[in-house]
Amino acid sequence: MNLTENFSLKNYNTFRIDAYAKYFGEFFSADSLIEILRETKNIQKLILGGGSNILFTQNFDGIILKNSIPGINVINDDDEYVYIKAGAGVNWHQFVMYCVSRNFGGVENLSLIPGNTGASPMQNIGAYGTEIKDVFFELEALHIEENSLQKFNNTECGFGYRDSVFKKKYKGQFVILNVTFRLKKNPVFNISYGAIEEELKKMDVEKLSIKAISDAVINIRKSKLPDPELIGNAGSFFKNPEIDSHALDELTRIDASVPNYKIDDDTFKIPAGWLIEERGWKGYRKGDAGCYQKQALVLVNYGQANGKEIYDLSQEIKHSVFEKFRISLEREVNIV
Ligand code: FAD
Ligand code: EPU
Repeated sequence: MNLTENFSLKNYNTFRIDAYAKYFGEFFSADSLIEILRETKNIQKLILGGGSNILFTQNFDGIILKNSIPGINVINDDDEYVYIKAGAGVNWHQFVMYCVSRNFGGVENLSLIPGNTGASPMQNIGAYGTEIKDVFFELEALHIEENSLQKFNNTECGFGYRDSVFKKKYKGQFVILNVTFRLKKNPVFNISYGAIEEELKKMDVEKLSIKAISDAVINIRKSKLPDPELIGNAGSFFKNPEIDSHALDELTRIDASVPNYKIDDDTFKIPAGWLIEERGWKGYRKGDAGCYQKQALVLVNYGQANGKEIYDLSQEIKHSVFEKFRISLEREVNIV
């Protein structure tokens, strides 16, 4: 593999930050990755997918390796399920469209999420009542230091809300090479979340199908979220905080109108977008860094903002939310 020196990452991250990598390379197979790792021991590395959940606040003084391993293949099936292996470099939405067009059910609610299949387990991507843990079977990853292949099943990935072992315990240690999903041959429709039902009515859908659900999710997402091709962003910048009933009591004492969603007996999710909007940030702009006017949880780059400016804005928002609500927002986006 050829490495390019002093490489602009502007077209490789959806925030469109013009940071530079000391070296940049792209690999299309596990073998070429192994070769480059052998030749570049002791140099700092970062694996990149579609760059849609990353904020570069500075240049990267090491090697950025873009994972472009291709391929979608049905590897097994039984009466109920079909098992599909996708290379880490496969675009996530293309994978969803592959499944939807064949009526394989389970990922239709995750339509139009940017990025690549290889990054989907990193934060257990989720939307509209589904997370990839619901369809995940196993993945294969390469340990960077030990140069060994390892498989992880669903339990071993330690999936949580926007979380997995790859974000915590094994951070930076593995390169995910491929992911196998288990999809339903007879799809079960999940339309209870958010505005899906309402959107399906608007679309005048006569017969429910996973294609109709996928189209509804696509419509909703397009109406709320900025298209990274037009406005730089990485989706939700922060996670929605999860708090216990005691903390919820405290919060409702500060503001009785705070929305919350019950997760289990003593866990409640608070929409961070609401907290941020309440503090007056929605639609705020400083230079080219801003808080999106249709969705306060999304920070945007209107053109020439650098990563530090976006990060500084996120700090201001964090402080301002904490000042009033005593809740410390946690960033979802990976900061480099
Ligand atoms: P990258 O940004 O390239 O990488 C993310 C992290 O994973 C980095 O730390 C990187 O080093 C690491 N990584 C990437 N690939 C690999 C690999 N193969 N092996 C090891 N490490 C790797 N997310 C949701 O969960 N739900 C949403 O609804 C959602 N909506 C979004 C909407 C918009 C408009 C945007 C821009 C983003 C949204 N996101 C959402 C966030 C993003 O799409 C996901 O996090 C996605 O999975 C990131 O994939 P990526 O390939 O772009 O990862
Ligand atoms: N809200 C506001 N103001 C806003 C935005 C949101 O008050 O500006 C409140 C409203 O009460 C609204 C609630 O937040 O009802 C939820 O908003 P929305 O349905 O837009 O979803 P979200 O909680 O902001 C989460 C995920 C998204 C995912 C959607 C749909 C996180 C951090 N974000 O957003 O994921 O697409 O739900 O399931 O969990 C991402 O991770 O990048 C992402 C976009």
